[in-house]
Amino acid sequence: MPFPEGFLWGCSTAAYQVEGGNTGSNWAAWEAKKRLEPCGQAANSWEMWREDVRCLQELHANAYRFSVEWSRVCPHPGEFYDEALERYAAMARSLRLAGIRPIVCLHHFSEPAWLYERHPRGWLGEEPVEHFLRFVDRVVLALRGEVSEWVTFNEPLVWLMFGYGLGHWPPGLRHLFSLERTFLKDGLIDRVARAHREARRLIKSAQPEAKVGLAQNVADLEPARARVEDLQALQSWDRLVHGHLLDVLGSAGELDFLGLNYYTRIYVAASRLLPMGAMPGYGELEAAMGKPLFHLLGGRRGEGARTDMGWEVVPTGLGRVALRLWNAYKVPLLVTENGIADATGLRREDFLRDHLRSLAWAMGQGADVRGYLHWSLVDNYEWGSFTPRFGLYSVDRAKAFKRKPANGAKLYASIVKSNGAVL
Ligand code: BGC
Repeated sequence: MPFPEGFLWGCSTAAYQVEGGNTGSNWAAWEAKKRLEPCGQAANSWEMWREDVRCLQELHANAYRFSVEWSRVCPHPGEFYDEALERYAAMARSLRLAGIRPIVCLHHFSEPAWLYERHPRGWLGEEPVEHFLRFVDRVVLALRGEVSEWVTFNEPLVWLMFGYGLGHWPPGLRHLFSLERTFLKDGLIDRVARAHREARRLIKSAQPEAKVGLAQNVADLEPARARVEDLQALQSWDRLVHGHLLDVLGSAGELDFLGLNYYTRIYVAASRLLPMGAMPGYGELEAAMGKPLFHLLGGRRGEGARTDMGWEVVPTGLGRVALRLWNAYKVPLLVTENGIADATGLRREDFLRDHLRSLAWAMGQGADVRGYLHWSLVDNYEWGSFTPRFGLYSVDRAKAFKRKPANGAKLYASIVKSNGAVL
């Protein structure tokens, strides 16, 4: 297997999903408003981060991506909480001492509730960019001695599509039928690109050797049927949810690496009635529309086995997507997320083996992939529910948040230890 020496192996988490106690987040307000299962103490990682480091050591990991919670560090506009920053710095330091490279994400969906109290249109206006940059500046000053790899945004298109397109996530704004105007054409995507560019500039001026990227969720897109219209629909959907942002940043040299979050394949059909002329076969869309309408509009779901989230498992897609991104942008890739919601854990071993073999195939074809970070280290809060279980470690929330290796942890540890040789 072509995993070079120094290949990064590890896991990813996100602050809001594991830390607990983030009551100042817009997500906490959203859960109350929509009567969702509350995140509460999550996996209690804010208190138990040393346990998480221990789990990573057990996995022989040499990298860990976590995020810094904006609402914790900046509980009120312009007010920063140094103790929180010190704890993040201590975490990063202890990771480094354990031989685990900290990779820090600055925006993973959750934002301070005050941002939207002040600016209800959120990122439809300019103001959040300035607030975000002030936050980034403080975090980088506090952590630059410990961290030199940064992810500005996690899955900006997922966040924007759910929060500003479908309105399923905070701030709950709906622009489904004006996606093109709202997202493209000097819209939300360009604003996020600007925030990334400025954040990268800030980071590099504080820390010239830093590497700054972003993590993009890229699905393996397939036309629903062998028809030119479906291919065209696929291309316009691809441009919206993947390509536009990467074209803007990749071609301008604004990405030192590209984080790839890969989960599944999506079939795209042409549909004149829908935005962008495209009917993407997401399960979430099928659930929102109801099956009959979804199928009437040409929607197609994959026929393969599905995870507990209803996502089709398509391991070969990881390699295909990695190779495609490498050929398109020639920017080093880091798999920043890939994992399976599997409460039994019985499918996790095959999932790991098959996806990693596929990644190795892409590397054999020339894709420059620097690492693989599994989603996720521990069972966590899955944006509205604790039911999906992505963790290599289960968390018993009724028993002092005890971590226990889940099925798949042992195999992953042996893959990591052997640098992929056992695959
Ligand atoms: C997100 C994570 C999420 C995971 C599984 C990714 O889209 O970055 O926050 O938990 O998928 O749904």
